[in-house]
Formats: sequence, structure tokens, C-alpha cells
Amino acid sequence: EKAGYEHFMLKEIHEQVSAIHNTLAGKVSELEGTIYLKELNMTEDEIRRLSRIQILACGTSWHAGLLGKYLFEQLAGIHCDIDICSEYRYRNPVMDDGMLAIAITQSGETADTLAAVREVASYNCPTLAITNVVGSTITREVDSVLYTRAGPEIGVAATKTFSTQLTLLYLLAVKFALSRGKLSHNYVKGFITDLRKIPGQIQQILNQKETVKECAEAFAHAKSYFFLGRHLNYPIALEGALKLKEISYLHAEGFAAGELKHGPIALLEKGTPVVTIATKGQTYDKVLSNIKEVKARDATVIAIAGNKDTEIGKYADVVLTIPQSSELLSPLLSVVVLQLLAYYTALARGCSIDKPRNLAKSVTVE
Ligand code: M6R
Repeated sequence: EKAGYEHFMLKEIHEQVSAIHNTLAGKVSELEGTIYLKELNMTEDEIRRLSRIQILACGTSWHAGLLGKYLFEQLAGIHCDIDICSEYRYRNPVMDDGMLAIAITQSGETADTLAAVREVASYNCPTLAITNVVGSTITREVDSVLYTRAGPEIGVAATKTFSTQLTLLYLLAVKFALSRGKLSHNYVKGFITDLRKIPGQIQQILNQKETVKECAEAFAHAKSYFFLGRHLNYPIALEGALKLKEISYLHAEGFAAGELKHGPIALLEKGTPVVTIATKGQTYDKVLSNIKEVKARDATVIAIAGNKDTEIGKYADVVLTIPQSSELLSPLLSVVVLQLLAYYTALARGCSIDKPRNLAKSVTVE
């Protein structure tokens, strides 16, 4: 059932190619520059009247939501908050008219997420769930359900459910942006063309996985690992750190790269591996400065960069490349490199990859 792969996690990392393809099927028209989400029980008028989005999620799904916040604000111009579910309920949340709550949970059974959704629903706030499991508890609690078409995920570490959650968040944000007149159909045509290239580009990354493996083996016995990213790559840095700690038991922390100098930089020592997402975009120059700060402390920089970047090699110790894509969509590619890095680190350390210690696939207690 592992189809020749040594672990479910590696199989599921590879399945992202088809999982994203399947999640997009029937939902995008390149010709018209339109997104179709027929499961969304909202009228165009309701979408236009939205004043605020509240995202509710835990763990990896929370990282997907954090990227979602950037997308809803940047593309659709809708104010978006995101909370960890176990915190949300206990902080007397303020609800507005015109608020939409989006719960993200691959299993649809996470107790903290269900409790947070029940809380918002008790205020008559419209609710939407993004989940991978048909008929899961969350699907009975919300007004609309969007399914990721990832197929069953057996490994405790979420991989293909994460990238398909991101895929749906991109579609939802672009759909809201179209309804609210923030994006043109022409722009969306280009966006869909780029999005459809993503599965093939993930395949290209998988074809070069030996490079990531070599890097993972070289640092498998580090004392701790840091992950840095800015803007859309900040949630991906957090996800890279979570993947690594979850399955390799290495101490790992993810930071917004600009925050490093406000404290965490004190932790850097000679040789500390610092994975920095340095894909081209509006914060690229700032990320280069962050890399220089890290190098000045003798730490080791592992950069994730576009394969056409000829500059990054001057600053980073190791460069792991991804195919060139739009700045907007590059997180879908960077995360695959980080998943592979976590996988091969855990493999080199002889860990129980599909069933890490102390963890369960879905957390059904609050
Ligand atoms: O099923 P959910 O998406 O609600 O699960 C939330 C978290 O428990 C989950 O994402 C967890 O962090 C993963 N094991 C991470 O790989």
C-alpha cells in the first residue's frame, strides 16, 4: 500500500502532484479567467458584503490559514484575522456583522477546531470548512464545505493536505477578489496558467530530491535548526520548522526573518543551520540582508531560491532550488523542499517517520 515507497510520508509528498491537480479539477477556467466553487453557499452579494474573515485552525492547518490571511487581504482586500482554536474560545472574541469564519482542518475531527466553530456559529456567524475527509464531524457543523482532494493521508505529518488546503485558499481568495472587483478576469487567466503549472513544477523538485537528501544528511546532527521567511514565506518557514521537529525530534524554530534581530539571533552559533526562503519577490533584498546578518554570526545558510537566481550563491552556503514561478505561488513549491528536508533528516536519524512519538493523526481532545 506504500506503492514501493519506504514510508507513507514520502509517498504522500510525491502525491502532491496529483492531489493539487485533483483539487483544481472543475474549479478553474483558464479561458474565462474564472473560479468556480459551487459548494460555496454564498451569493455574490454576500461575498461583496463581507467585512471580515476569521480563520480558525491548529498546527499545520493554522500555517495554511496564516498564508490565507495574506491572500485574503492582499488579493481581495478583506480584513482577515487568524487564531489558534485553543486560544480563540477563551479570549471573548468580538464578532461583527459581515464576518465569515473559515475553519481549516484536514481531518475534520480536531476537537479544538470543532469547539471554536461551535462558538462562532452560536453567534450566527456564517461558517465555511476546508477539510479532506468527506462526512467528517466538521462538515455537519458548517454552512459550506470545500474539500481538498488529497486522498487519504496516513503519515502523521501533514503534507499533501497542507498543499491542497493552500490551493483552495488561493482559489477562494481569487474568487472573492473577482466578486469584489479587485482583480480582472485577465489577471486571473494568468494566475490560472501559473497555478496549473505547479503540479509539474513539484514533479521537477521531486526529480531532484537527492540534493535535498544530501543536505539533510549533512546537518542531521545539528543541535538546532532555524527557518526564516518573510511575507508569504513566513508561514512556510513555520511549517518547515514544525515538520522537522515533529518527525526528526530536532529542535527547530521558524521566524519571520525581520524578527531575528529582535531576539532570536542570540541563539545563533557557529554552524547552526538556518534555512532561509529567498525566492524572488518584493522582500528579496530584505531577505538577502537577513542572510548577511546570519552569516556574520558564522551560522550556515541553506537558501531556498529560484533556479534562475545567479546571485544567491554568493551569500548562501547551500542553495536548494525550485523552478521559477510567480511570487504569489512560490510557497507551494518551497514547502515541498522543506517537507523533503524534514523527511530525509528523520530518515538519517532513524526516526519513526509515519508515527512519530507522542503524536496522533487527529487530536480529538481539547
Ligand atoms: O486535522 P487537522 O488539520 O485539524 O489537524 C491539525 C493539527 O493537529 C495537524 O495539522 C498537526 O499539526 C499535523 N500533524 C502537522 O503535521
